[in-house]
Amino acid sequence: MNIVANWSYPTAIKLGRGRIKELAEACKTLGIKKPLLVTDRGLATMAITAHALDVLEEAGLGRAIFSDVDPNPNEKNLEAGVTAYKAGGHDGVVAFGGGSGLDLGKAVAFMAGQTRPVWDFEDIGDWWTRANADAIAPIVAVPTTAGTGSEVGRASVITNSQTHVKKIIFHPKFLPGVVICDPELTVGMPKVITAGTGMDAFAHCLEAYCSPFFHPMSQGIALEGMRLVKEFLPRAHKDGTDIEARTNMMAAAAMGAVAFQKGLGAIHALSHPIGAVYNTHHGMTNAVVMPPVLRFNRPAIEDKLARAAAYLGIAGGFDGFYDYVLSLRSDLGVPDTLTAMGITPDRIDELAAMAIEDPSCGGNPVPMTLENTRQLFLDCF
Ligand SMILES: NC(=O)c1ccc[n+]([C@@H]2O[C@H](COP(=O)([O-])OP(=O)(O)OC[C@H]3O[C@@H](n4cnc5c(N)ncnc54)[C@H](O)[C@@H]3O)[C@@H](O)[C@H]2O)c1
Ligand SMILES: [Fe+2]
Repeated sequence: MNIVANWSYPTAIKLGRGRIKELAEACKTLGIKKPLLVTDRGLATMAITAHALDVLEEAGLGRAIFSDVDPNPNEKNLEAGVTAYKAGGHDGVVAFGGGSGLDLGKAVAFMAGQTRPVWDFEDIGDWWTRANADAIAPIVAVPTTAGTGSEVGRASVITNSQTHVKKIIFHPKFLPGVVICDPELTVGMPKVITAGTGMDAFAHCLEAYCSPFFHPMSQGIALEGMRLVKEFLPRAHKDGTDIEARTNMMAAAAMGAVAFQKGLGAIHALSHPIGAVYNTHHGMTNAVVMPPVLRFNRPAIEDKLARAAAYLGIAGGFDGFYDYVLSLRSDLGVPDTLTAMGITPDRIDELAAMAIEDPSCGGNPVPMTLENTRQLFLDCF
């Protein structure tokens, strides 16, 4: 089935095969005449990126690119991006890539007009009001993975390269003005990235669904997002050219990010420090810690997950759901433990201290303390 859709929630989303050809039009809609395409180093040399630049060039918008972007991008990447943006006289950003390219592209558009350091805009209280909102450049987002949902998010995750802490930088205007979800861009993802990013989308839906706050809208989106992952992630993983599966995974990724406005939890609170310290892939790390976190949260989520299991067609309530997660992980080739991922427990105290400072920690259904979080980390090895 060829799915084509135009949505206006939470922003303008153009979903469907081949729609990258609408990139220049999307820029023009936002008044961008000289975009800077921001992506990561790996994507810089890929054909999908060259094609996106062709589309811009053919429409007279140039083919400027900045790609000095690491996985888990940091403030140095950001500074270099802002410098390139200013030097090129750009008036908007095409944020292109997985979460790394998208987050850095969004942050470049944000920081291009600010005078305070980026850390002043961390997602704490009303810190975002410190920003000069009029100076934020317009953003077109083009995801090339189906996982983070950053294309529909109002935050950007930037790693502090000094402290190795992942910081969430927030502003409502981080939300891109137009998003192009073209599933053909995700066809070339290596299997391990398809698995890891897909599990990130699943983790967003699962944690949002389990978080204790009252937000039935997000609850509903999270539940259907999990169903899409269940049906389509194994298909996309098995046959990367399955466009129907790829399209549905792009939808699930966007749904995960919309849903997690309700809250995240221990999966992300553990995964953020591990990613910042060991530079592991974010979604894959989430998948590794997911079963121990489910066990940890069991007393608070047993009934909720039984309802989710029923909706997903899984028999056996919480236990059935738990077994399903284990089998999904093994089908996708996810390492069983952090040990299997190549990490040793020697920095566990540091990781636990970082986890309980992570903003995701507040959405976990079972309150996290230094003591129980340290034990939870141990259970992941
Ligand atoms: N803003 C948010 O709300 C949010 C949410 C979750 C995660 N994140 C962040 O997103 C980042 C992870 O993003 P990700 O999981 O998408 O991975 P990624 O962007 O780091 O990409 C992983 C690898 O896949 C490659 N790649 C991407 N698209 C490809 C394609 N179509 N074909 C072939 N290779 C491709 C990249 O070059 C890179 O080497 C982390 O920094 C994480 O902290 C942000
Ligand atoms: Fe995530």
